[in-house]
Parts: sequence; structure tokens; C-alpha cells
Amino acid sequence: MKFLLLLASCAFALPQNKPAGALYFLDSDPAGASVVSLPIRQNGLLGHPSRTSTGGLGLIGNNMNGPVTVDPVFSQGAVTIKGNRLFTVNPGSNTLAYFRIPRNDPTHPVLIDTIDTQGTVPNTVAYSDKNKLACVANTGSKPGVQCFRVSDCSSLQAVGGFKPLPVLNQTTPLLGPANTVSQVLFNPSETALFVTIKGDGTNDGFIFAYPVVDGQVQETPVQSRPAGVPVTFGFNFVTDSLAVVATPAYGAAFVDIGADFTATVSTQVRVPGQRAVCWTAFAEATQSTYLLDAGVAALTTVDPQTRAIARTVPGIPTANGYFDGVVGGTKLYALQASSGITIFDIQNRSNGPFTVDLTSFGNRASWIGMAVYMN
Ligand SMILES: *[C@@H]1O[C@H](CO)[C@@H](O)[C@H](O)[C@H]1NC(C)=O
Ligand SMILES: *[C@@H]1O[C@H](CO)[C@@H](O)[C@H](O)[C@H]1NC(C)=O
Repeated sequence: MKFLLLLASCAFALPQNKPAGALYFLDSDPAGASVVSLPIRQNGLLGHPSRTSTGGLGLIGNNMNGPVTVDPVFSQGAVTIKGNRLFTVNPGSNTLAYFRIPRNDPTHPVLIDTIDTQGTVPNTVAYSDKNKLACVANTGSKPGVQCFRVSDCSSLQAVGGFKPLPVLNQTTPLLGPANTVSQVLFNPSETALFVTIKGDGTNDGFIFAYPVVDGQVQETPVQSRPAGVPVTFGFNFVTDSLAVVATPAYGAAFVDIGADFTATVSTQVRVPGQRAVCWTAFAEATQSTYLLDAGVAALTTVDPQTRAIARTVPGIPTANGYFDGVVGGTKLYALQASSGITIFDIQNRSNGPFTVDLTSFGNRASWIGMAVYMN
């Protein structure tokens, strides 16, 4: 009898038409931001996109030529998922948005709360499940980190002080990509919160680390300015003591993280023919990091053992380049410079790549951030 009940409940939990998961990015539309969700089929391919309001406004930053047409807030990690929690930012209304992802309907995340980020132009968010803390970085005229206590179904609560970041004299509208925050991220053991800040575009950028002590993110960061990483952009950890940091100056750097959370460059990885490597995606299964280049339609894989390029994976030529990307199952999903998403099979190189054309789905200029939920 018990066995039958178990079968019945499993059948209920896994209806045949349920997607394997969902892929998400932020539409940082100044008229009203939304999370765009695409169902991930059992074969890893994507279904039709839909939007869910984030309860706030987006923003499209400027570069020296005026409003940008890609990369609206110059960041990695604009959408962050752990378990069934999804966090994103409203860069135009200075709030953090917190959603629950329904297991049986992941493309319709449910907004639980929005809260003031204390600064201006939040552009990246990290979540620690161990500490039940979401931390957001602001990159506007009031730049800094603010953390929030997260609970299952109730509102977010600001915890700790506002922690200023070295983003100097930022303007309204936001001017980038130099002189902006790139990403906030907890290390794998969730014992410190790391932030990358680009610097002035010529000199080395910054890596700040806020230790977590007794579940509290400390107010004073360990400040590093590792020599040889100008425009410190997106990054990921391989382990607590090793990270890969993208730099559009030459590709990426392997960065050693000391027991005291100081960051030093171990190896510079020069990517031949690179235009602007700014984003990274980490594949847990192989420990590989994929580098994404805003101006080149290919992925560069770097191997933590050799600390060198393992291979180059050609993308879709019409993609023109890649922005944020994320690994889900055996696929890597990359936001194209052109209006669409490329799906790379990271296990079977003869399968794909495939592209999903999103030209009819609104304005590409305001899209950023990539995250997955897998059932
Ligand atoms: C920022 O602005 C202040 C006040 O105008 C000025 O003194 C300072 O030099 C500026 N810093 C940078 C890095 O531009
Ligand atoms: C790899 O993908 C190709 C093309 O879809 C397919 O024919 C082949 O069977 C796949 N190989 C494996 C091992 O799944």
C-alpha cells in the first residue's frame, strides 16, 4: 500500500508535460522591468518566452556614444537562483525583487517581495542559502552593497549597514562600462561575499571580500587590487581558493584567494582574437569555466588544472557575440549580442549549437542576466 501511494505521489509530482526546468533573464526595461522565462524541454531545448513583472523599473545605461544597445547595466549576476528562490534587481527603481519558482510551473515565478536596495542602480545580486542572505550591489551615484535576510514566504529585511564601493562620481544616467560594479557572489563555502569592481578602465580593477562571521556579512571588506586585471568583470569560483575573472583587456585571469580572502593573480589567460571577454559560466561537472566575449561568437573553455585554454567552441556566427551565460544540465545557454539565445551542448560537441530567435520579443538593449532552475 505504501508503495502504491509513493508511486501515486511521484506520478503527481512529475506530470509528463512538466518542463525539465526554466531559463531566465532580466528585461531591464525603463518603462517596467520583467523576468523573461523560457521552459527547458527534456532535450535541453527551449520553449516560448513569457514575462513576469519584477514590480519595478529597469534602466539602460549609457556608454560614450549614448544609450547602449546591449549590456544595459554592465554586470554579471543580474538574476540569481538557488533552489526555488529567484532574485533580480530593478535598476531604475533601486529595489531588489524576490520570487518563488513553482516546481510545476517554473516559467511563472511568483513575486514575494521588493525592497529598497539603499543605494542607486542595483545591477547584481548574490544569495547564500546557508546564511539565508541576499546581497545586492548598487553601481549608481550611491554605490554600495546591502544585504537582506530571506525567509520562505515573507518579506525581505535589511541586515547590516550599507557598504560603500569604489565607484567614483558615477552619473545619472549611468555611464559605463568602466567605473561600475561587475558582480557580487558568495564563495562556494559561503564564508565570504565577493564583489568585482571594474576601476577606471585602464588601471587594475578591485576585488572586495566581506567575511561572513556568525551568519553576518562583515561591514569592512578585505580589499584587493590584483595586479594585471584591468576592468575586472564577471567571475566564478572553481573552489574557495581559486576563481576565474573575465577581463576585456585580454581574456581572463585565474585568481588565487588566500585564507584571509585576499585575491592575487596566478595566471593570465590571453584569448587569441578576443574583443571583450566580460562574462563567465561555470560547469560544475567538469570544473571548466566558459568565457563569453561580447564581440566574438565563440566560447573559450579554460581548465583549472592546466590554468590554460582547453578549447574554443564555435558559436552561431549571427550571434555576433555573447553576454551572460549559464550552464543547466548538459547545456550552456548564452545571451547573444543579436536578439536571441544560443544553446551549446557541453557534453556532445556534435549536437548543435542551436539558436532561439527572439527578434520579435521586444528590445534587445535592455536584456541581461542568465540563470536556470532545473527540476
Ligand atoms: C570626484 O569628484 C570630486 C568632487 O568633484 C573630485 O574632487 C574628485 O577628484 C573626483 N574623483 C574622480 C576619480 O573623478
Ligand atoms: C551527439 O549528437 C549527435 C547529433 O545530434 C547525435 O547524432 C549523436 O548520437 C550524439 N551522441 C551521443 C553520444 O549522444
